[in-house]
Amino acid sequence: MKVAVLGSTGYTGMVLLRILANHPQVAVVMPASSSRAGAALRDVDPGLGAALHAKCDGELVDLETVRAAKPDVVFSALPHLTSSKVCEPFFGKSVVIDLSADFRVPDAALFTRAYGEPPPRVDLQLDSCYGLAEWYGKEILEADIIANPGCYPTATLLPLLPLARKGLIQGKIVVNAFSGISGAGRKEQINLLFHERSENVNAYNPGTKHRHWSEIHYHLSRSGKQLPMLFTPHLVPIKQGIAVTTSCSLRDGVSEEGIAAAFKEAYGTRPFVRLLGSTIPETRWVRNSNRCDIGWHVEDQELLLFSAIDNLVKGASGQAVQNMNLRFGFDETEGLRTYGEF
Ligand SMILES: NC(=O)c1ccc[n+]([C@@H]2O[C@H](COP(=O)([O-])OP(=O)(O)OC[C@H]3O[C@@H](n4cnc5c(N)ncnc54)[C@H](OP(=O)(O)O)[C@@H]3O)[C@@H](O)[C@H]2O)c1
Repeated sequence: MKVAVLGSTGYTGMVLLRILANHPQVAVVMPASSSRAGAALRDVDPGLGAALHAKCDGELVDLETVRAAKPDVVFSALPHLTSSKVCEPFFGKSVVIDLSADFRVPDAALFTRAYGEPPPRVDLQLDSCYGLAEWYGKEILEADIIANPGCYPTATLLPLLPLARKGLIQGKIVVNAFSGISGAGRKEQINLLFHERSENVNAYNPGTKHRHWSEIHYHLSRSGKQLPMLFTPHLVPIKQGIAVTTSCSLRDGVSEEGIAAAFKEAYGTRPFVRLLGSTIPETRWVRNSNRCDIGWHVEDQELLLFSAIDNLVKGASGQAVQNMNLRFGFDETEGLRTYGEF
């Protein structure tokens, strides 16, 4: 397989290069960059090891070079609205795995509410699918564009979907999510400076204001249930990791055993979801891993769900490689076993 990574100098691009370097089905990696094309990889990202250098020419390449090489897969680790424009030459020619939001929310009103303009390339929405790997395996197998989910939506939807789909929960869903700073990308911004973020925690874009509210709401609604939701993210002073606490009510007659059974049915055989029961997951347990850890607690017909992922791995680049594995019929865990704890 020949694969390209667009946006190689960003956080998710850098993680993609590290995972693909050790992927046994990937023979050639093309690290592409709009800002550093032509520069030596060892200068731009000295942390990359020999495994990647063995799969590329040691330089960042431009878009034209990628286009001429006709890669099997293009991973786009670019900002939303830029991604679909830059990927234009690859649609219909390579499988595009888009880490941006451009194909995640096909509902025009919801997308516009989040991103300020209608979803780009609506004509291609039918060729695309949502790449929440544990839920859309069949669609992923046939898709030419895979919309890799956002980090908060991955950590929020994985515990909620098995319960919402079975109608086990009711009432308002309240989601409080806590993210490390890398979730904001590798950009110069005053509120992301070490001095602003260390020893400091705050909520932002509360309730229904955050962009990811639209994505979570859309994919939860696809489960057939219109459950109202408040989603409040918080920035916490860690580099990477997301922890989510979600509360809602159980339907009458639903017991803790019923919740455990629904989780087991959904994820009992899935390699990248670990069910912890009453143990509350911690971000350090999933650091550098493609795993989502899920715990839960029932009290007086109220349910608390706890989940943790690494935003750069299961929340982005790891799940993107998991999607490539599913799309091409490889073992789902290929390339992801040695990257962090399995
Ligand atoms: N960070 C996370 O935890 C996370 C999780 C899930 C999804 N995502 C999504 O994944 C995508 C990449 O995120 P990231 O955190 O890696 O972002 P990032 O660190 O800010 O990197 C994005 C990269 O895209 C390229 N780029 C930026 N502006 C561009 C432009 N106008 N035209 C062309 N290329 C441009 C640059 O790479 P080059 O100069 O090398 O081209 C830049 O380094 C975003 O859509 C983000 O929302 C991020």
